[in-house]
Amino acid sequence: MQVDLRILRFDPQRDPAPHWERYTVEADPMDRVLTLLHVVKEEQDGSLTFRRSCGHGVCGSDAMLINNRNRLACKIRVDQLGTKITVAPLTGLPVVKDLVVDMEGFFAKYRSVLPFFVNDSPPPPRERIQSPAARARYDDTTKCILCAACTTACPSFWARPSYVGPAAIVNAHRFVFDDRDEAGEERLELLADGDGVWRCRTVFNCVDACPRGINITRAILEVSRAAVERSA
Ligand code: SF4
Ligand code: F3S
Ligand code: FES
Repeated sequence: MQVDLRILRFDPQRDPAPHWERYTVEADPMDRVLTLLHVVKEEQDGSLTFRRSCGHGVCGSDAMLINNRNRLACKIRVDQLGTKITVAPLTGLPVVKDLVVDMEGFFAKYRSVLPFFVNDSPPPPRERIQSPAARARYDDTTKCILCAACTTACPSFWARPSYVGPAAIVNAHRFVFDDRDEAGEERLELLADGDGVWRCRTVFNCVDACPRGINITRAILEVSRAAVERSA
């Protein structure tokens, strides 16, 4: 089958503004959009720029706006999209070139919530034991691959780029509800500020966008409740 592929191209060093370019690509219905991008780059225009690594939905490097929804190019197939496909960079992050956006601001927010295990107590002789029920408490939020599809689909983030965003809150949740961690209070204090959890307006775009199926709004609600209980 032939796919009519439109890609939003932009080279900030040469182009005054982003513009759409059109490519006709011979494809199989089971092809991923990432495959089509490779075909264009290898056979039609070597200057097309995009980011990818694993090719299998694990590394989170190829989230893009595909047919107006954030998705991983390596997961979404032609048969799920039809023969007319549009591909644009994630919304709300600076474009470096074509489909590559600058993720530094996104990762700075991620780092701001202390997304790592904190426990300064002397370690026990073997490991820090955790019950299966306690592990299950935050299982959903361990699945994040930091693709940024959620944050860049969020109207609250578009309106206020300083909002920490759903991805950072998901990664805070993973540690706030880990009963071995000791920095929960500090994280909740950070997330209770003006650009924290209260910026969420429960729009749910983030849940629709997440390629890992994480219940992001539930995680945000749980962190919000914990922040309220902490300050009560
Ligand atoms: Fe991507 Fe989902 Fe993690 Fe957001 S929560 S960064 S959409 S994997
Ligand atoms: Fe944004 Fe998701 Fe909240 S889209 S407003 S973070 S529910
Ligand atoms: Fe790794 Fe798509 S290339 S998630």
